[in-house]
Amino acid sequence: MKSTKPILLFFSAVFALSSCNNKINTKLTTTGTSLKDAFNGDFYIGTALDVNQIEEKDPKVTQFISKEFNAITAENIMKSMFVHPQKDKFDFKTTDKYVAFGKKHNMFIHGHTLIWHSQLPKWFSEIKDSVEMNAAFENHITTIVKKYKGLINSWDVVNEAVNDDGSLRKSVFLKTLGEDFIAKAFQLAAAADPKVDLYYNDYSMTNPAKREGVIRMVKKIQEKGVKIDGIGMQGHWHLDRPTIQEIEKSILAYSSLGVKVAITELDVSVLPSPFGLQGAEVSQRFENNEKMNPYPKSLPDSMQVKLAQRYEDIFKLFLEHKDKISRVTFWGVNDTQSWLNDFPIRGRTDYPLLFDANLQPKKAYYQVLSLKQKNK
Ligand code: G3I
Repeated sequence: MKSTKPILLFFSAVFALSSCNNKINTKLTTTGTSLKDAFNGDFYIGTALDVNQIEEKDPKVTQFISKEFNAITAENIMKSMFVHPQKDKFDFKTTDKYVAFGKKHNMFIHGHTLIWHSQLPKWFSEIKDSVEMNAAFENHITTIVKKYKGLINSWDVVNEAVNDDGSLRKSVFLKTLGEDFIAKAFQLAAAADPKVDLYYNDYSMTNPAKREGVIRMVKKIQEKGVKIDGIGMQGHWHLDRPTIQEIEKSILAYSSLGVKVAITELDVSVLPSPFGLQGAEVSQRFENNEKMNPYPKSLPDSMQVKLAQRYEDIFKLFLEHKDKISRVTFWGVNDTQSWLNDFPIRGRTDYPLLFDANLQPKKAYYQVLSLKQKNK
């Protein structure tokens, strides 16, 4: 742990200035501390990168990312439709750049994701035969994990295999291989790189029925003697739900299985959701209208305050359980990048992250950082 004095001095400055204008905020983010420094020693602070960010199209953005974050996840380019487009062809062009980005900036590099029912290439999703699926499955996991052995620090081995009621999703993998596909995926990944951390990752992980389902599934993996190192709670949350109590219950319940807990895809939507929709089921879409898109130009101060308080509450909890949490990764760098602008209704304007469209820190950013001052 670092000396606390310089941090205290810095935060006094932040708080004297945090209610001021954007110009001052710009100065603070370019000269002051950062998320990754503030939480150094607690957990990694990660972000999800899109292709432009991976390819370092804008040097200012690259500098910003490397200043604020010390862990990365590829938002899309490592998914099977991009990396394994044909049965006998892998495409590692962009994933190589992603890993090089992480190395260059000395970051924790996470692999997202090996086995997921969504964003599958057509050839993979249309396999009906278990022998054929078995061979494709094994080739897919083994080739990718071996390729990045010693370079990637952790993998989402299986993503979103459990339904919200705790049952297993009827994916092409479940249909062809049976429920054993989950343990098998972990076994193959561990064989390909024995040292890499292996995670199960999902959304709605605070929902009690789903929590029980995930725990049952993880116990089965462990009972077979197969290695699983962590559970990823995606964290696609809202201003009013899930409650801090439910988040805490989940962190404790997953951690009691003897695995690390990562918050893998954190964002807080400020927009109304149709029928109180929860989770991140990508196939769910609804129509746009003015009522559902109340802040098309900017987020009113009253809402910035609510968002900041929600983030403060969430990070306060994370700090209380920092011994169980390995990494907190935001799902995107700033608001304009967020998938929530198109989900579950296309073309809205959401404000779910700590940095705005111009990469300026929001009130929520300062309130999250303030926890470190209060903690010292
Ligand atoms: O690449 C095409 C581009 O060529 C085309 O012009 C454009 C037009 O819509 O679409 C582009 O593809 C989009 C892709 O993101 C890349 O930007 C897809 O339409 C869009 O559906 C896709 O969305 C991604 C989504 O996963 C897909 O399922 C989001 O960016 C990504 O944030 C989201 O991430 C998932 C996690 O992997 C798993 N957990 C839930 C999370 C949120 O859904």
